[in-house]
Amino acid sequence: MIEQDIQELENRKRQSELGGGEKRIERQHAEGKKTARERIALLFDPGSFQELDQLVVHRSTDFGMEKQRIPGDGVVTGYGTIGGRLVYAYAQDFTVFGGSLSETHAAKIVKIMDLAMKNGAPIVGLNDSGGARIQEGVVSLGGYADIFLRNTLASGVVPQISAIMGPCAGGAVYSPAITDFILMVKKTSYMFVTGPDVIRTVTHEEVTKEKLGGADTHNQTSGVAHFAAESDEDCLATIRELLSFVPSNNMEEPPRASTTDDVNRVDAQLDDFIPDSPNQPYEIRDLIRTVADEGHFLEVHQHFARNLVVGFIRLNGHPVGVVANQPAFLAGVLDINASRKGARFVRFCDAFNVPLLVLEDVPGFLPGTDQEYGGIIIHGAKLLYALAEATVPKITVITRKAYGGAYCVMNSKHIRADMNFAYPTAEIAVMGAEGAVNILYKGAKDRDEKIAEYKEKFANPYIAAERGYVDEIIEPRFTRRKLITAFAMLRNKRDRNPPKKHGNIPL
Ligand code: HXC
Repeated sequence: MIEQDIQELENRKRQSELGGGEKRIERQHAEGKKTARERIALLFDPGSFQELDQLVVHRSTDFGMEKQRIPGDGVVTGYGTIGGRLVYAYAQDFTVFGGSLSETHAAKIVKIMDLAMKNGAPIVGLNDSGGARIQEGVVSLGGYADIFLRNTLASGVVPQISAIMGPCAGGAVYSPAITDFILMVKKTSYMFVTGPDVIRTVTHEEVTKEKLGGADTHNQTSGVAHFAAESDEDCLATIRELLSFVPSNNMEEPPRASTTDDVNRVDAQLDDFIPDSPNQPYEIRDLIRTVADEGHFLEVHQHFARNLVVGFIRLNGHPVGVVANQPAFLAGVLDINASRKGARFVRFCDAFNVPLLVLEDVPGFLPGTDQEYGGIIIHGAKLLYALAEATVPKITVITRKAYGGAYCVMNSKHIRADMNFAYPTAEIAVMGAEGAVNILYKGAKDRDEKIAEYKEKFANPYIAAERGYVDEIIEPRFTRRKLITAFAMLRNKRDRNPPKKHGNIPL
């Protein structure tokens, strides 16, 4: 009797595990995609995943659906550990009705989201779905809205990560859009609100799925996605790594990792790192890696707005969010996309107690009608607002240029940065010497002299230091040690904003 009962349970589970059947699994593999369960196995620590609702079936009876009930209904949900820490996840199964979202499929996702919120643990969504289940109509739309509400309420409470691992159309893109990070897999994933066929009908544009919403498009052009993975395996490994930098919820500190890197390490080569000429580019990521523990930097949004670099490092084992102007791309100028990118990253770090390091070398905001018509005023204000409202420990290092409004924006003392360092090569001024002389001494015969005079006065960090706008001018070789000491000093920082329902960031 007991044996029979167990056999029945096993049969039902096996049916669920087969999903849409061998043929569809083969098709999934042939396209270079893993199945939902294979993905879950790669995401979680071996043997830790506990599946819930494996036997749930849909309730639809229209369009012959009553004859096609597959246990699990196209999504694997549950919890387990990643790096030993609790995480909830769902993985849509494209072999079952194209991973489309039914009422019950949505209810399964909602169940683990509610558990994640109650228990303060991250939610990872592995999306591979044709969107709303067409046979179900409005109940499937309702299911999406139930998820969107939870994504919104969970925002800033538990980290939410979305991987796009197949086609994601319509409703399937809006849940990821509300979450903190989006990863896409090159060549096999797409995101769009309306696909190429609808676009052809409405706007008469011809565009391929890849060009419209592939990983390159969303990583480089729209900025919707933060990571472009080479494969399913690469994508899932990146999620594991990303989670290692963030706390389980907004009430916890980020997890500290062990490190063998010397906190007192001196990097003599940094003394010659900043070029003598203010217009010569250099690779800011080299500086970031030099100061980081073990030289490790997890770059976020690597392919978008490359004039600003953001990502995570560890200093003495503690995670730190880095926001850095990139002199090697557009001279590190701030533009609309760089500001949007930086603001979003800063707000994530602030929401989840990750201290911020700003590396500043910025000639100002990008001039031009494109930028002004595009709303650089409102978009540029996003980064200013995000850094000003952030209450986590905030440290700035001015490596070279800190010109104009960008000086204020890039974590200046005036917007509550805790510790502002400058290299001796820093130039803190309203603008570069040539631009200043062009305005102040238009047509002057002794132009070169005036430029030299302006440089002498402002192309250095000393006036800012005299005012206390810079706390310390440091030798570049000691950057790592200085940062570790200052972040340790700020470890118990408590700061808060005035009580309010919420601020109104310039969206
Ligand atoms: C039910 C679906 C489905 C859906 C796909 N399938 N999408 N079943 N509802 N939304 C089924 C197919 O019938 C097929 O079943 C299987 O999944 C695989 O689909 P294929 O078309 O064979 O795969 P592929 O060629 O790879 O194309 C994938 C796709 C395409 C690009 C996702 O299927 C597609 O365009 N689907 C519809 C997308 C869509 O418009 N969704 C609604 C969005 S509106 P068999 O039995 O043959 O294996 C929406 C509203 C929410 O989501 C708005 C909230 C804000």
